[in-house]
Amino acid sequence: MKVGFYQFRPLFGKPKQNCHKILNALDNVDADLIVLPELALSGYYFKDKNESLKYAEDPENSHRLDALIGLAKNRNMHLVIGFAEKREEQCYNSAALIGPNGIEHIYRKAHLFNEEKFCFDQGNTPFIVNEVNGVKVGIMICFDWVFPEASRTLSMQGAEIICHPSNLVLTFCQQTMLARCIENRVFAITANRYGEDKRPQGSLKFTGKSQVVAPGGKLLHRAASQRDALFITDINPNEAHDKFITKHNDLFGDRRPEFY
Ligand code: ACM
Repeated sequence: MKVGFYQFRPLFGKPKQNCHKILNALDNVDADLIVLPELALSGYYFKDKNESLKYAEDPENSHRLDALIGLAKNRNMHLVIGFAEKREEQCYNSAALIGPNGIEHIYRKAHLFNEEKFCFDQGNTPFIVNEVNGVKVGIMICFDWVFPEASRTLSMQGAEIICHPSNLVLTFCQQTMLARCIENRVFAITANRYGEDKRPQGSLKFTGKSQVVAPGGKLLHRAASQRDALFITDINPNEAHDKFITKHNDLFGDRRPEFY
């Protein structure tokens, strides 16, 4: 299965330009699944919920998401993209699984980071897996990394690949995701953005270094920090089926939930 990420620098409040950038970058790719950053269409650093609603997409009526569905259809591939999701007066920090026939799943970020709490409603969708060409794929968004329950829940439901759209500002996540792949023996694709959102309320710098990690915590590739990066690699998702870390240690079977 050919999987990867596209790391770029979304421009704040320029969804049309950001969408064009993605469409151009992925125009000729040969892949089954590409992961894009969190809030890839709108940019990240909103000042309040009115502003996030202003730049959000209503999935029922979005030229941008429709264009991405067109791309998935043309290239016969799946995308996972983070976007601000508007549902009437609600606004979620969401990620869509997009296939050739449309949006197949929307996950709404469960664990909001810092000032996101003033700009988004708390996610209300469970951690579930979807199939892409028969492969089980789960989604979590950025700061969900700090809650091991997110990747554990997806993995215990059979996720073979965790797609992880991100806008990381702290420096710990990329290394920590190796641990998430050691403890769950899954693949993880963290698609991060780079650059800076300079806003009246302050400025945030994003860390890039998008990566693909294999079961056992093997880093297959990590991108540079502050550069566009399109990376695609061939993986065997079956590698995520073996949950033994030693001959006598089944990572799921040896759990002691009665003590947790
Ligand atoms: C983050 O969750 N965007 C840090």
